[in-house]
Amino acid sequence: MVGLAGQKIIVVGGSSGIGLGVAKASLESGAEVVIVGRSPDKLRAAEQSLDAGPQVRSVVADMTEEADLARLFSEAGAFDHLVSTAGTPPPGDPIERTDMAMVRRFVDNKLIGAVMLAKHAVTSLRRGGSMTFTSGINKDRPPVPGGAVVSAIAGSFSFFARALALELAPTRVNIVSPGWVDTPMWDEIVGAAKSDFFAGMAGRLPAGRIAAPADIAPAYLYLMSSAFTTGETIHIDGGHGLI
Ligand SMILES: NC(=O)c1ccc[n+]([C@@H]2O[C@H](COP(=O)([O-])OP(=O)(O)OC[C@H]3O[C@@H](n4cnc5c(N)ncnc54)[C@H](OP(=O)(O)O)[C@@H]3O)[C@@H](O)[C@H]2O)c1
Repeated sequence: MVGLAGQKIIVVGGSSGIGLGVAKASLESGAEVVIVGRSPDKLRAAEQSLDAGPQVRSVVADMTEEADLARLFSEAGAFDHLVSTAGTPPPGDPIERTDMAMVRRFVDNKLIGAVMLAKHAVTSLRRGGSMTFTSGINKDRPPVPGGAVVSAIAGSFSFFARALALELAPTRVNIVSPGWVDTPMWDEIVGAAKSDFFAGMAGRLPAGRIAAPADIAPAYLYLMSSAFTTGETIHIDGGHGLI
């Protein structure tokens, strides 16, 4: 395992939820962290909560904008690991009511955004470093009805990583596929119904509870540190894939 102390890690989506958990765990491992998101307010609040002085800084960038990504990687300079947890709530309408504009926005943000991140990261990512992207349990246990689009997009990440891992070797490319994690995204998706949703799922999960971001962060740290893991998808879902 390669230690993360002294390494520079860029976390796109690091201002909230799973990404903020990865940023915190990376800082605790002695890394220097750059958190990235679109909202300056969210980034400021995240930097404050991380309370890590000069070891953490933030860059405002939208990963759907090539100019933002070119600026991000030129400002960040040479670095060791790219993590992306960036994403927005998925479309969830039954197929016959699909809002195509929403699907296009989702694909543009989640999938094309990841492709664009890889394109722009590669010139300043240290050879032999890593890229880790995020898919999710929806690819294995899609909501019915309404889960087809998110399942297709999340599922595509594993194949993206396998092909890119070959192309960029010895730089490693991997995927984390989380189960349900208590993050602000759920407040956006289900609002006040969140606690009922979570109680219902917790009762069915082998782990017996919904994850916190701190439960998921070790999967990203493992993939950054494990010099022999590439093209892989790690499922960290409390057993959700079994039920
Ligand atoms: N939470 C779960 O249960 C769960 C389960 C499985 C998979 N996932 C996946 O995990 C990822 C993270 O989810 P989360 O729950 O941590 O969500 P979250 O708390 O809403 O965080 C999303 C992060 O992504 C950033 N972001 C979104 N679009 C961006 C863009 N175009 N450019 C740059 N940053 C962008 C957001 O900041 P700004 O809004 O300021 O840009 C925020 O920092 C998502 O892709 C989600 O689908 C989540």
